[in-house]
Order: sequence, then C-alpha cells, then structure tokens
Amino acid sequence: MSRTLFVTTALPYANGSFHIGHIMEYIQADIWVRSMRMAGHTVHFVGADDAHGAPIMLKAEAEKITPQELVARYAAERPQYLNGFHIAFDHWHSTDSPENTDLSQRIYRRLKEAGFIYTKEIEQFYDPIKGMFLPDRYVKGECPKCHAKDQYGDACEVCSTAYAATELIEPYSTLTKATPVLRSSEHFFFRLSDPRCVEFLREWTAGSNANGDKRLQPEVLAKTREWVGDADTEANLADWDISRDEPYFGIPIPDAPGKYFYVWLDAPVGYLASLKAYCEKTGLDFYALLDPESNTEQVHFIGKDIVYFHALFWPAMLKFAGLKTPDALNVHGFITVSGEKMSKSRGTGISPMRYLEIGMNAEWMRYYITAKLNSHVEDLDFNPDDFVARVNSDLIGKYVNIASRAANFINKLFDGKLAYQGDTQAMQDEFAAVAEQVRADFEYREYGRAIRRIMAQADLINQAFDAAQPWVLAKGIQTADDATRAKLQDICSRALAGFKALSVMLTPVLPVLTERVAQELFGESRNYQWSDAAVLPTTVAPFKHLMQRVDPAMLDQLFEPPAEPVVTPGGEAISDTIDIKDFAKIDLRIARIVAAEEVEGSDKLLRLTLDVGEGRHRQVFSGIKASYQPADLVDKLTVMVANLAPRKMRFGVSEGMVLAASHADEKANPGIYVLHPWPGAQPGMRVS
Ligand code: 2FM
Ligand code: ZN
Repeated sequence: MSRTLFVTTALPYANGSFHIGHIMEYIQADIWVRSMRMAGHTVHFVGADDAHGAPIMLKAEAEKITPQELVARYAAERPQYLNGFHIAFDHWHSTDSPENTDLSQRIYRRLKEAGFIYTKEIEQFYDPIKGMFLPDRYVKGECPKCHAKDQYGDACEVCSTAYAATELIEPYSTLTKATPVLRSSEHFFFRLSDPRCVEFLREWTAGSNANGDKRLQPEVLAKTREWVGDADTEANLADWDISRDEPYFGIPIPDAPGKYFYVWLDAPVGYLASLKAYCEKTGLDFYALLDPESNTEQVHFIGKDIVYFHALFWPAMLKFAGLKTPDALNVHGFITVSGEKMSKSRGTGISPMRYLEIGMNAEWMRYYITAKLNSHVEDLDFNPDDFVARVNSDLIGKYVNIASRAANFINKLFDGKLAYQGDTQAMQDEFAAVAEQVRADFEYREYGRAIRRIMAQADLINQAFDAAQPWVLAKGIQTADDATRAKLQDICSRALAGFKALSVMLTPVLPVLTERVAQELFGESRNYQWSDAAVLPTTVAPFKHLMQRVDPAMLDQLFEPPAEPVVTPGGEAISDTIDIKDFAKIDLRIARIVAAEEVEGSDKLLRLTLDVGEGRHRQVFSGIKASYQPADLVDKLTVMVANLAPRKMRFGVSEGMVLAASHADEKANPGIYVLHPWPGAQPGMRVS
C-alpha cells in the first residue's frame, strides 16, 4: 500500500554553519526518504532554521546586526552544503516566519483552552547592567561542591554536579561581569504533570503507529519510561516553563505583553510551519495532512540529546492542541572522529565545507556513513583509514569495477548489445529478493546491514565473472564459434545485470552516480524504483569513468587546522603560525622601570625610563596612561622588546616596546595590563 510521509530532521540553530553532525543526520534522513520514494510512497521532506532564543539575540547584538540579519546570513549558506551533499529537502524554512508565529500562537491558545497552561511567579538571576534575565549558561561562578572557579550556572564541568544557578558562589554575569540579582517575574508553564498528559504519553511512547511499527526505538522507550513511569512506577514529569521575558528574540505570547515563547516551544512547531509553506507552494492541503485522523505519517529524525523535547513536550503539545501526533522518532547517536567526541558548537575536526572545497566526493561520505549506521542510538566513528578502505576496496573495488570490466567486452565485441543465454529467471528472482531485503533494511534504518548485503552480492557477481574467465574466451574470439561468442556475451551481460541491480540498491545512497549509471550506461531515462533491480538491461554504452578512488592525502588535507579563525575572548583570532626561528628574532628582556612620567600633550602615552642591564638607560614611550599612575610603575619589573628598531616619535625617540595585554576592541573593552614577571627575574634576562 502506498504511504504518505511527512519527514523532518532537527532544525539547526541559525547561529552557526552546519557541522558534520548535521550533515550526518540529513544524509541519514535523505537516504530514508529516497528509499521510501523508490518504493512508490509519497514523501514531504522539510527542514528549517531554528532562529529564536537568547544565544542568537546576543550574538547578533555583539556583531551589531539584527537577529534577522544573523539568521539570514546562515540561511544563505545552507544550500551550498545541502546541494553539495545531495540532501534533497523539498523545502527549507525558518522558525522566524509568519507561518510559525501563527501556528505557535494557535497551538498555545488551544493548550490554554484545554487547561494545560498556568502562570507562576519565579525567581531568577537578572543582570542589572544588561537589563535582562540570565539563562543558566550566562551565569558563572564557583562550584558549590568542589569550589572550581568559573563554572556555568547549570552544572560543574570539573565535578559534574548539577545545580541551580542560584547556588553558585560569587556568581557573575558572563555578559557584563556584574553580580546578578534575584528578581521575580511571572512565567507561563505547560502542565506536563497533568494526569491526561501522563496517561497519553505512556500510551504514545510505548505504542505503535498505523503501520504496526513501534514509534520509539527500544532504548529510547526505556529512557522515556524513566520520565513517564508506568502502571507500577510514578511519573517524574516537571511542568515546563515555556515563557521568557523581554528582551528576547522569539514569538510573543498572546495577551501577555513582554512575554515570549521559549525557543523550544516554537522550534518543533517549525516543522509544521515549513510543511505549511511547502503546501502553499505546491497546492497540498496542509490541514488535511495534520488532521488527527489523517493517514500521513509524521517521522522525525533527531539526535539523542533532544529526545526529551521530542518524546514528551512535542507529542503532548500536538495531542492537546487537537493535531496529529508523530508516528516515529528516529533517534541517532553522535558522530565521533577517530574516537573523539565533538563539541556541539564547534563540531568535529571535519568541516563539511572543507570536505567539499578540497574536492572530496560527497557520495564517498554518504557511502561511508551508510555503511556505519544502524537503527540503534549508537555513536558513529569517522575513522580516516577506515574511510579510505571502505570507499576504495568496497565501493570502487567491488561495485564500480564490475561495470568497467564487463562493459568493455560488450562494447568491443558485441556492439554494446547484451544477450543472455538460457534461463534468467533464477537470476532475476535473486536480484529481486536481495533488493527487497535491502529495501526493508533501509526502511528499518539498518543501513550498515543493507550495505553488507549489497557488498555480499557484489562479491558473488565478481566471483562468477572471475570463475568464467571471460578474458580467456575473449582472446580467441575472432576465430571462435558462435557458441563461444554467445557464452562470452552471456557472462558479461549477467555481470552487467548484476551491476545494474546493485546500482538500484545503492540509489538512495549514491543518487548522482546511479543516475549516471541509468542514463549514460544503460540508456534508461527514469529514476530507479526498487522493482528495477530485476529488470535486465539490454544495452550498455562504452564505459565512462564513474568514480575516482580516494587519495589518502585528501584526508590529511581534510584534517589540517580549520580555515575559520577561532576568535578568542581577547576579540581577535590567533595569528598565522610562525616557526621558532621567527620567534627567536624577537629579543624579549626583563626591564626595570626606573622612572615613569606623563608626556605633555599626550593623553595616551607615558615616558618610561628602563634598565635592561646594559649599563645605560633606555627611553620608551608606552600607551598605557589610561590604566596606570606613573608612580605605581616605578621600580617594577616588566618585559620589553629590546631589539625593536628605535622609532622617532613626536615627543622623542622610543627605544623599544613594553609588553601589555588588551582586548582587540579597546574602546568597547577598555583596560591595558602591563606584563610583570614573577619574583626573582633580573633586568636583562632574556624571555623565551
Ligand atoms: O538542538 C538543536 O540544535 C535544536 N535547534 C533542535 C531543534 S529541533 C526542533 F524542535 F526544531
Ligand atoms: Zn564542581
């Protein structure tokens, strides 16, 4: 039976470029979508930028642009990545859109009418300088447990204790360094603890969809059990704080001036907003798709870190707003690189853009990820050596090579015509059976198993071809009889029929390569469907190069330090690398400040008299007047560049430079800090 599916991937925050974790998820979903379409199902596959929230607002502010401008900047680069990796969303939208505002507010109103919303005063940290409530990540202080300094407001990175921001010792705002004050304000809550909700979530999490498949993977179900409980265990569900006070970049809460929806309320609604915009573009009936009675299946691909939002809040919101609830959550693990975890904000060492820029083939990555994915919530490790081995020995060595070996004979000797001897039904049945298993593997997201089956079939095809030794037959072919010619043609035709069947099975993974196979090699104009695996090809064009092997040097290039500079809290990126010889050219010395005085006519400079142990004094002008009283500097030790060429300045010659730290944007972040050696250093000592 033909199904209609509405498929999404998690919406990425619009304050950063895609990292390899995003690309992995999109590839996984894209393969699923392509495979379902090949089975004749209708799929609407949409994504969007997750545009709201405090981090985006604050990042825009720091860059002196509007949040909309920041979001637009990242939205503009999305297509390069998506097209580059052949990820074919039908539509890409934004949660900062009229559709999302409308849908979020409507859903909220319905939840309110149904009695799921209440308000309560809560006390929270407030930054009196910035004039805003501080999310936990913007408060730091000393860990109340282990006393580590500079820990975030939600948990200690040293001892892993979780706590409330208000428990921090000597808390400060990371935005202004101000000491936050406790302030109370009215917040809106979604009553997740409502018995109707608990009952519904127990049923929904444990249940199956209309297709008879479980909505959740077993390990995800086990996790949700800890939250929703069951007949014997009580639920452990806290009500959900869905409001934030202005200033906030988000969707206004109806009839509540100054209050906005917390970003996580409107983010999943963004799935629907994107679908709605897509429906408007294509004339589909959006509300019919979302009707609780609709048989459109709603399938979400997400990472394991956001299960709570998708397995509890989201289905509950939909249910009690009278909308269709999700039919499946497909949860994947994280991607690690050579066993190392990646950071959510910085990604891994692999930049997907760099991957494309250095000319690596996107289908290698698609193949590799596919080979390593299964239906469980397991992390996937990207290992460079493994990558090279799988692509070169399996993809090229086993699959692509079949075509090059067999097509040559057919074109040279048989004018490109395929012909089979004897019965082909058994072979066709075999291809159909394997293709059906592979199709089911894709449907149930056992991608690695699908690839193992495909490669096992490729092995069989190669073995049959090798055992028949067509090159031996081909040697004497000019003088050979018809039976021998027919035999050679049959061997090659069967190998090519096998190659075609493999191509059909690899179509979800390698859409570009297999389209070329269909069109250029076999002269077939339509996109492959699963049923094409058993349809025997009748002609083959002269073999054209299909796919390059991976040059291992490319992986070295991929892992070179990222091109994107990391801007330090000092406001500027670390400079280009120099070698030790470059550094040795700079002669840094300990200097004693013998005298310090103001310079008439300059509001920046102090005139310093320095002793560098040379038996003479040097005069150095230093732009540190804003931060130091001359008298405080006298007799202090510092560090200077002693071999800087003397510079003639308006007030005299400066014979060197004193080292001091400051922010790149001194206006916005004033403060100059002269370097001061630890006790024991003597004037004239070299610093290295
Ligand atoms: O964790 C994240 O990156 C979120 N932006 C995911 C949102 S998924 C959906 F709810 F929009
Ligand atoms: Zn601690």
